Order: sequence, then structure tokens, then C-alpha cells
Amino acid sequence: MMISPETVANIRDAMRVEEVVGEFVSLKKRGVNLIGLCPFHNEKTPSFNVHPVKGIFKCFGCGEGGNAIDFLIKHEQLNYVEALKWLARKYNIEIEEKEMTPEESATHDLRERLFNLNAFAESYFHEQLFAPEGKAIAFSYCRERGITDESIEKFRVGYAPDGFNTFASHAMSKGYSKELLVTGGLCIERDNGSLLDRFRGRLIFPIHNLSGRVVGFGGRILKNDARAAKYINSPETEIYRKSKVIYGIYQARSAIANQEMSYLAEGYTDVIAMHQAGVQNVVASSGTALTEDQIRAIKRYSPNITIIFDGDTAGIKASFRSIDLILKEGMNVRIVPMPEGEDPDSFARSRRSSEVLTYLKEKSSNFITFKAGLLMQEASGDPVKLGGLIREIISSIALIPDHLIRTLFIKECAEVTNMEEEQLVHELNKQMRNLRIKNKEATPEELPEPRRDTPAKQHGTEKVPLTEYQEYEVIRLLVNYGDHNVGIKLPDETTYESTIANEVVKELDADEITFDNPLWQSIYQLYKNAVNENTPLPDSNILVHHPDAEIRNAAVNMITSPYQLSENWEARNINVTQEKDLLSEALDDVLHSFRMRKVEAMMQQVHNAMPVAETDEERIKLLKKYHQLLIIRSRLAQHIRRIITF
Ligand code: CTP
Ligand code: MN
Repeated sequence: MMISPETVANIRDAMRVEEVVGEFVSLKKRGVNLIGLCPFHNEKTPSFNVHPVKGIFKCFGCGEGGNAIDFLIKHEQLNYVEALKWLARKYNIEIEEKEMTPEESATHDLRERLFNLNAFAESYFHEQLFAPEGKAIAFSYCRERGITDESIEKFRVGYAPDGFNTFASHAMSKGYSKELLVTGGLCIERDNGSLLDRFRGRLIFPIHNLSGRVVGFGGRILKNDARAAKYINSPETEIYRKSKVIYGIYQARSAIANQEMSYLAEGYTDVIAMHQAGVQNVVASSGTALTEDQIRAIKRYSPNITIIFDGDTAGIKASFRSIDLILKEGMNVRIVPMPEGEDPDSFARSRRSSEVLTYLKEKSSNFITFKAGLLMQEASGDPVKLGGLIREIISSIALIPDHLIRTLFIKECAEVTNMEEEQLVHELNKQMRNLRIKNKEATPEELPEPRRDTPAKQHGTEKVPLTEYQEYEVIRLLVNYGDHNVGIKLPDETTYESTIANEVVKELDADEITFDNPLWQSIYQLYKNAVNENTPLPDSNILVHHPDAEIRNAAVNMITSPYQLSENWEARNINVTQEKDLLSEALDDVLHSFRMRKVEAMMQQVHNAMPVAETDEERIKLLKKYHQLLIIRSRLAQHIRRIITF
């Protein structure tokens, strides 16, 4: 569905950040702002701030921040369109949809019809669980297996009646077409043209997508029939892409985000039993190796995953390859083996909730450590075997995208295997080079191999000083005070009033200074355009709702930065005239140190270039340039304040 830009604008106008956040967090007034306990991390004293005037929230504990839409996306795990719909409902705004092309509307229609059919089937199966046949066969089975009424509701467990076409004829009597029932995978067309229900006499587990809509079903057999498959699942359809969906994610997503970790089990019943034991951050792979898309869906809520194993060592080793795929996506993988002969379902049902939690916590270990330990056991003193096994461990470490984490694991691996760190790093770099060649792509940078002797200092490689901090300060001043007025006094004693933004643009343009950081440059450009075209300056409200998420985040951070000038002033009870005074000074300082640092950076660059200059001519040119910069620097150093207040 496409929401028209007018509707989006109406929603933005209507939404109040304090009202949206207030639905989920209890907020207290503090000055012009509101404060509460952060819903994104655990805390006992509130550091979660809502600024109604600025339209944003910001937690000084964990750093989360953004506008009302960002809040809904993060807190309710919605996507952008879902968040807009949520707001439209809250503020009674009618959603106007954008016209779609005929193709767009055809696939859109089919998808919507399939979602509707599945929702209808889910309700039907669920009701059948309590009808006489279902009650006797399926509900009683749930009871035996300890599936509680609460779980039946939460996971919308159901029953598909036995019989050839009980569901098909009911659905057709409600107006669902034969074609749709077949396309949706709920029925199978027989040679004689009649329909056969796919699920007959089975316990039904609906499979939900991230927004809670049913995309397919799994059906467990209830009879003792060795010839029939234990589970039957919906086929792939327009709305059910098996490689993208993961069972339980809808019910687990908030818990995964809150606990900053997910558990991965195998089956439907594992997920349900774990929930009943109080472990709600659990999803199931449905007995197959995870795909990249599934990994990303889980990672959206947390980069930490713990895999629950219920097999023997051979089974665990067999899954090492698929775990490598998870490492490659940058997730932190832990693993926890189940006690002999148990799966998460039987384990969770036979123990108290506290025991389950303690076990999972205490028996889990980092995958790399686990793998190293397991392989070391196997090598047990055989040096030839050991070499191969170390290469095997390193091959997993080589996949981890984060440089720091790789370093940590190499250290740990050195400890477990009793090998020299240097040797392991050497092997790691070799494998990473091979990977890079194999994938024809840029893989993460290699670790520097530790050397005993420090190499002689080379010419021309000294670092150029970073202007990052100074750049940040200029932008922060613009974002917070760009539209504030300051008084300017010229050398001839004439004075005038101007905005901060005007002065910054004028000063930087005169020296043709640009920002190294492209994000700061693009924010600066917004101000520069407004000044040059004489249009209204982008105030903080525009920036915190900017379509570019990077700009939005940066603006939120700058506006709420706890060191910002105005908060100090508030604390020191400084009044408005003094604020103006301080602003002029701040403008002066910020611009001055930015220029100073820029000049220093340029001097360093010239300095670095001199030893590698190829001709005398070039060398002389560089020397001249260096001289010029020296002069500018000393002028800047003696710098006379020319911006003052009235
Ligand atoms: N599975 C499947 N088709 C099968 C067997 C298994 O789709 N024929 C999937 C199901 O998602 C199942 C998971 O693999 O939940 C794990 O299989 P298994 O451990 O055999 O089933 P359990 O979930 O343990 O089911 P139960 O406890 O009822 O035997
Ligand atoms: Mn089982």
C-alpha cells in the first residue's frame, strides 16, 4: 500500500511525540520536558527525555533517540508504513492511498486476498479446536503435551478437521474461490477437478510474519501413522517465502529487543514450551539451516543469538557450516547444548522456570570458544591433526566482519590452543586474503601482525590531524542556534545584526572551507542554500523529521547533547541578553578553532608531501605553500575578536 504524501504530511502535523511515547512509557513533567524510564534499556533512575517542543525523544543512558515515528519503529518493531498507519488510527486521519499501476495493483490484490484467506483459515482452524471433533482429538492432545490455553491463544493453535474437503467446502460457502484456495496452498486440486484439503486431522500452527499476519501453516499429525509425515507445511506462495520467514518472530520480537538476545530452537513445540517457561525471546528454524534473510530478520532486533542444540556432538559439528553464515552476518553467536536425550520442549516442560533460565545462562558459551574447545579435545596431542583444526577455527573467525571482535577471538583461541598469537594472526590474514580473492570483493581489513621490532619510521606517513571535532562543533552550533541573532561590530566600529547561520556561511565561504565529513557537509549545505537563496533556515524541527535517517539522527543527538550551551546556561540561570552575548562568543570560538585546525591539517599535508616530491620545482611550490599557511596560522593565532555584542 502506498500512502499519499499529503496524508504523510497530515500525520506529521498531528503527531505529538509526548502523546505517542506516553502510550508506552509513563512520563513525568520536568521543566518544559518530560522524563521517564527508558523502554530500550534497563534502568532504575530515569534518563529518558521527551522534548514536546522539539518533537523528539532521547535517552542519555543508551543513546536511543528520534521523532515519534522512530519511536514506534523501534519500540513496536513496526516498519515505516506500519508506523504511519498506527499514527493515522490514533489521530483519526483518513489514509489516502496513492494510485498504483495495473501490475502493482494486481500483485497487491493477490497478496491482500491471500492474507485475507489465511486470516479466515486461521480463525476457522482455531474455532475447530474447540468443536466436538477437535476437542476430543486435538485439544486433548494439547493438554497431554502441556500446551496451555494461554499458548493456544498466543500462537493461535488450531485443528484442521479430518475429511477430504471440510475446510474447502466451508471456505467456498463463504465466497472464497477454488483458484484462491489452491494458489494459497490450503487445498490441492485433484484430477477430477474437486478440492482436497491439504491439512486433514492435524494440529495447526499458523506461521506469522513480522507484522503478525498469517503467511502459512504447519500441521502436526495426531494419529499413529508411520507412513505419514509428522509435519505438513504450506507450500511457497506469493506471501510465504520460506527462506524469509522464521517461526515465532512475531511473538518474540519485543522480548528479543528488550533482552538484547534471541534463542534459536528447531521446532514449533520448542518455541511454545520455552515461552511457557518464561523464555519469550525464542524463534525456530523449522528444522533447516537458517538463510541469510532469516538471519537478518532476527538481527534486526538484536545482534546476539544463542543457538540451542539438542543433538550429539556429531550433530553440533554438522551445523558448524551454517553457523558460519550467521557469523558472516556480524552476529555474536553463543551456543547451549541440551542435556542428553532432551530437546528444548521436553527440557522446558520438565523443569521450573527458574531452573530453565539458570541452565541457559550457565551452560551457554561463545561459539568460537566452544568450537575451539571441542576441536582441541579431538586433536588431543596429535600435532598434525591440531594444525588442521586450528585452520578450521580460524576459518570461522575470518568471517567475522568486526575487526575488534576478531582480535578478541584470536587472543582467546591462542589461550585455548596454547599457540602463539602471532602465528594465529598470520594464519587469519592468510585466510582473509584467500576469502577476498575468492569473493572478488573487499573483505574487512587485516589485523596488523604483532612484531617484536618496531619498523623504522617512514617519511610521509605522519598522520594528518583530524578536524572532525571542530567540524562537529560548527554543525552543532548551526543546528541549535542557526536562526539566532548576534550583533556584529566591524573594524570601523559600525555594527549590524545577523543570524548565526548567515555569519557561518559568509565566513566559511570566504575561505572556501568545506567539511571533510560528508554528513556535516550535507547539513551545512542545507543552511548554505537557505542563506544564499534567502529562504527560511532549516530549524531543528525540519531536521529531526528529515527523510535522511543519518541527518535526523545527527540532529537529534546535537539538539539533546547534554553538554550543549543552553543547558549550562539554564543551570547557571543566565538570561536572554547574556545568552546573546555567549552566542557571539561561541560563534567566534567555533569558527576560529575550525579554521585553525583546517590550516594545521593542510600544513601537515604539505609537510608529508615534501619528502616524496619528485622534482625541485614541485618541492619549491610546496615550500611556498607551507610558508603561506604559516602566515595564516600566525594571523589566526593573534586573532582579534571582531564579533561582539551590542
Ligand atoms: N519439520 C517439518 N517437517 C517434518 C519434520 C519436521 O517441517 N517432517 C520441522 C517442523 O517445523 C518441526 C521442526 O522441523 O517443528 C523440528 O522437527 P522435530 O524435532 O521432528 O519436531 P518437533 O517440533 O520436536 O515436534 P514434536 O515435539 O511434536 O515431535
Ligand atoms: Mn519435540
